[in-house]
Amino acid sequence: MKLRFLPLMVSAALVAPVASSALASNAGQVLEPARADVPASVAVWKDDKAKMDAFISELIGKMTLQEKIGQLDLQSGFRNNTGPFVNEDYENQIKRGQVGAVFNSYGADFARSLQQMAVEETRLGVPLMIAHDIIHGHKTIFPQSLGEVASWDPELVKLGAKIAAREATADGIMWTFAPMADLVRDPRWGRVSEAVGEDTYLTSVMSVARVQGFQGDDLSKHDTMLATAKHFVGYGLAQGGRDYHTTDVSEHELWTTQMPQFKAMVDAGVATFMTSFNDLNGTPATGSKFLLTDVLRDKWGFEGFVVTDYTAVNELVPHGYARDDKHAAEIAFNAGADMDMVGRTYINYLEELIEEGKVDESKIDHSVRLILEMKWRLGLFEDPYRYFDMARAEKEILSDDNKALARDAARRSMVLLKNDNNALPLNQDELRTIALIGPLADSKRDMIGNWAGAGPAHLDHVITLKQGLEERLEGKVKVNVAKGATYAFLREEGSPFAHDRFNYVARQTRDDAALQKQIDEAVKLAKQSDVIVLAIGEQEAFSGEAASRTDLQLPGNQIELMKALKPLGKPMVAVIQSGRPNDLRWESQNLDAILHAWYPGTSGGHAIADVLFGDYNPSGKLPMTFPYNVGQVPVFYNHKSTGRPHDEWTQKVRSQEYTTRYNDAPNSPLYAFGHGLSYSDFQYGEITLSSDTLTLDGELTVSVEITNTGKHAGEEVVQLYTRQMVGSITRPVQELKGFDKVHFDAGETKTVSFTLTADDLAFYRADMSWGSEPGDFQVMVGTASDNVQRLSFKLID
Ligand code: NOJ
Repeated sequence: MKLRFLPLMVSAALVAPVASSALASNAGQVLEPARADVPASVAVWKDDKAKMDAFISELIGKMTLQEKIGQLDLQSGFRNNTGPFVNEDYENQIKRGQVGAVFNSYGADFARSLQQMAVEETRLGVPLMIAHDIIHGHKTIFPQSLGEVASWDPELVKLGAKIAAREATADGIMWTFAPMADLVRDPRWGRVSEAVGEDTYLTSVMSVARVQGFQGDDLSKHDTMLATAKHFVGYGLAQGGRDYHTTDVSEHELWTTQMPQFKAMVDAGVATFMTSFNDLNGTPATGSKFLLTDVLRDKWGFEGFVVTDYTAVNELVPHGYARDDKHAAEIAFNAGADMDMVGRTYINYLEELIEEGKVDESKIDHSVRLILEMKWRLGLFEDPYRYFDMARAEKEILSDDNKALARDAARRSMVLLKNDNNALPLNQDELRTIALIGPLADSKRDMIGNWAGAGPAHLDHVITLKQGLEERLEGKVKVNVAKGATYAFLREEGSPFAHDRFNYVARQTRDDAALQKQIDEAVKLAKQSDVIVLAIGEQEAFSGEAASRTDLQLPGNQIELMKALKPLGKPMVAVIQSGRPNDLRWESQNLDAILHAWYPGTSGGHAIADVLFGDYNPSGKLPMTFPYNVGQVPVFYNHKSTGRPHDEWTQKVRSQEYTTRYNDAPNSPLYAFGHGLSYSDFQYGEITLSSDTLTLDGELTVSVEITNTGKHAGEEVVQLYTRQMVGSITRPVQELKGFDKVHFDAGETKTVSFTLTADDLAFYRADMSWGSEPGDFQVMVGTASDNVQRLSFKLID
């Protein structure tokens, strides 16, 4: 028998209107008077581990095996569709006590109705946890995750998560599947938009900031939520950049680039972990005891619970790692995956597996305990409806304050990639007409990007670029708008890819006459204007999950449009919206200025206008390399040297022939990690070191004097890198070790200093021990990874 139903014998004592209160009173709690923002009993209980343990032991003691297994099940509702399989019976399953948590079920009223099913219609009334992918906002949408990180401002990133948590927790959601901390080096992979970029240090800092933003310092507060460290681990290394594909990585590389950010989140107290879909070195991560138990629990001491990704247990079968779903459940559960997302394998098979002696019932109790602990910490046993707060939702969601914060986050995230002859900022007094041209000129949906929470249902709050410019210019400058081109994938009639199976992504059959007509209209408008502002990029659905590309150029006929506009000789300024690094070769050679705006969120149009007109001076820096072309991928700043390093700039051509290089493209990317311009001009003095040696217990200070010689006040992200010249294993040519975002008034000079210790130089050595190695090092300070000054020092015993 696969499905067991709950016994009909229900104890009257437990069927109170809020059954969990009955459980609470069973635990003998005395409630204290309420505080303003934290229900009293939660405030009293939250740190009392002994009381929590006693309560949960008592509850587990009352649970049948089926009820326990029910707690290990996570089901998806229909409010969003984030996976290939939908369970139409989940409401009945909740009523049968077979579901411990739900997601894709947002909306306070709807989520409350699900909670009522769990609390009022099941025997023990154990409340549900309600989850959702709150990635860069719930309804007020902040910049796409990769973009937000381009601010290089952990406090801002933390604030984005905090506001998202405030909104989501008023709307019935208490658990988010974020942050995603997969290291990303392949922009073909659509999920780079959800990540933190190509550097492990930056990923660690920003992921911890997000955990702190979501969880705050106290999970029992009504406006904090459980965070999830995902995807554990290696998902970002998908071969060919194709989503869900296999990953194969050396032990050193795994521990050096993929693991530290997850360890950092454990240390920061992240509540849950999500397994990744991928096969990692022959073992699918969801079935890996090594990852989920040996590393996560035993080595790192993680105390929360582990949820699988969407049907990832069932997927052990097509991976070729399990014979069938039952075998898959045995492998995943024994590996250490506490909760099964969507796939129903635990519900269907764990009981049989226990009867057969393949799974230990005490292990089930342990997983149930971890899940109930989180329900306790959230305060759900005290009040299962505390996150359905219509009054707070009304007041806080999409509030003016939140939109203002989102606007600030968006403008701080934008990266000025190019600005020839100070084409930007635009001067309103010198303009009569602007031609705003491109498929993203007036698109609300694209403004908020992918994984935009409940944002798509609230597009009336979103400010497009057209709106932003018009509001900024108040009719003093005319804005002429034309689409000019499409960003749809254009396919020729009869091409093998000529189908529309995937609804989200815009595709259309090429119709030359219609496309030319659109271009002609745009050219006509541009002729009547003083400047062309291009609103170009990718449709939001071109990145995100299941959104890999093999070509990184801007899609559709956008380049054709720009080629038609170019001969007009007007200044051409591009605002690019995209969730990934694109191949911008043509744009970089032909446009006067390029502002990368990512998907800037609800207030995006205002934020872009702020930057275009110099009301905000851009300060973003790239968290991920922009390749020269797709053939260079993966291309990242912290690569190894090779035995035949190539010097692109040498004149000695002969000596460079047999070096590591391409015949048809440079090695260096179009825009390097850390690159980003400003309207200010930051002049770096010579860097100095406090000593040319560093002892194992000592400190070394590296300093530089920086002057803002420009006319505008602005912020500069000063970056610190090191290189270990010789190691017991080879070391990267550069590694980020620190950064500081510093404000300068026009004309202001400041000294910026960083302190290095031997700990900063530690790594997994040849024998896999963690530590530093005495020897020669370089320290580098600069404005981008490819624009640094270097000095040498020695690390000595
Ligand atoms: C699959 C994605 O990989 C994961 O990141 C997400 O949280 C789940 N779907 C739930 O939507």
